Amino acid sequence: MNILFMGPPGAGKGTQAAVIVKELGIPHISTGDAFRLAIKQGTPVGLKAKSFIDQGLLVPDDVTIGIVEERLQQSDCEKGFLLDGFPRTLSQAEALDELLTRMNTSLDHVINLNVDRGLLMARLTGRRICTVCGASYHLIFNPPKQEGVCDIDGGALYQRPDDNEESVGKRLDEYDNKTAPLLHFYENKGLLRQVNGENEIDVVSAEIVSLLRG
Ligand code: AP5
Ligand code: MG
Repeated sequence: MNILFMGPPGAGKGTQAAVIVKELGIPHISTGDAFRLAIKQGTPVGLKAKSFIDQGLLVPDDVTIGIVEERLQQSDCEKGFLLDGFPRTLSQAEALDELLTRMNTSLDHVINLNVDRGLLMARLTGRRICTVCGASYHLIFNPPKQEGVCDIDGGALYQRPDDNEESVGKRLDEYDNKTAPLLHFYENKGLLRQVNGENEIDVVSAEIVSLLRG
């Protein structure tokens, strides 16, 4: 099953993706996670992406599309995949369509997590992430059992450098200007399904699972 999660920054794409890939046994492909790893490793892609990400701006399409092309052609994607945070521009969506056609496959579900803009700032500035496994927590909405420590592997939790008010404001503007228009692109293809991302995490997961089982 080939799935795409859409939604603004902080909508819960990463949180829900972790649940769904476990349930379905397919790889989770997050361009944001791929960039953060590249930055940590100091690769050429990481060096290019860093200044854009730090400013809350989208990384240029050619860099982003290259990463996804390479990842989707790995053998573990043959049984399906879950894309999180790609595509975010019309050019990326068209490139994805072309790539999937070349691979003789297509998207099965596009799920949009709807969350009111007013909630997103609080979700992102309170988010904490595990340095080891990348699991997302929230100081208030989804706290770890022990402060500053991941429930899964005991890793230390950190705050993403782009989760400050200024970067979040820019990320939300980038979303409104460049990514939200893609919802029509997938609606016109009859693929778009809406999920209320403001519900509790478990309720959102259950709704997604039931949509996917359709
Ligand atoms: P990326 O890492 O994808 O960031 P994003 O889109 O800004 O989305 P987030 O990861 O911030 O939010 P999320 O929806 O995953 O929320 P989460 O589940 O963590 O991208 C980072 C940057 O990389 C971009 O700004 C850009 O520069 C670049 N980039 C990436 N892809 C690109 C592309 N395709 N093109 C160009 N550039 C690209 O949840 C958020 C918080 O809310 C957590 O604390 C969580 O615990 C909490 N939470 C989640 N669900 C709930 C709930 N139901 N109730 C209460 N709290 C909840
Ligand atoms: Mg994420």
